[in-house]
Amino acid sequence: MSVNRPFKLLFLSGPNLQLLGRREPSLYGHETLADLYQRATERARLRGAELDARQSNSEGTLVDWIGGAIDTFDGLLINPGAYTHTSIAIHDAIAAVGVPTIEVHLSNVHARESFRRHSVVAPACLGSIIGLRGNGYVLAVDAMVDHLGGAPKT
Ligand code: DQA
Repeated sequence: MSVNRPFKLLFLSGPNLQLLGRREPSLYGHETLADLYQRATERARLRGAELDARQSNSEGTLVDWIGGAIDTFDGLLINPGAYTHTSIAIHDAIAAVGVPTIEVHLSNVHARESFRRHSVVAPACLGSIIGLRGNGYVLAVDAMVDHLGGAPKT
C-alpha cells in the first residue's frame, strides 16, 4: 500500500484496560494505558504514521469504532480484553471493514486459564502479539507500518 500522507492507525483497547497500572501488575505490568499509548504514539510518529488511541468498556462502542474505520484508517490495532474470547461481533466488524488488523495482548493468554486460550477475534486478524507486556503495543505499530509498506525502522 502506498499513500502520499502519513498512515493513519487506530489503536483500540477494550474492557478494564483503563485500569492498567493498578490492575494485576504481575500479569499486565506497571505502565498505565496512557503510558502505553504514549509509547505507541511516539513510535508511530517515528515511522511516519499517525495514531488515534481509544479505550472503551463497551462492546458496542468498539464495534462502532471498528465500523467507522472503513475508508478512514489504514490499519487497526486492537487489544479487545475479555471480548477476545467471546465477541463474534468484534470478529465480524473487523472482517466487514477489511482494514488490516493486529490483535495485541499484554499477558501470555496461553499460560493462563483455559478460557483465555481461544481468541474469537484472531481469525479476522493479520496476526497477534501476545505476552510481551507494553512492548507489544509498540511492536504492533511497527508490524502494521511494515505491513502497509512504510519506511524502514529507525
Ligand atoms: C488481555 C487478556 C484477556 O484475557 C483479558 O481479559 C484482558 C487483557 C491482555 O492484554 O493480556 O482484559 O487482553
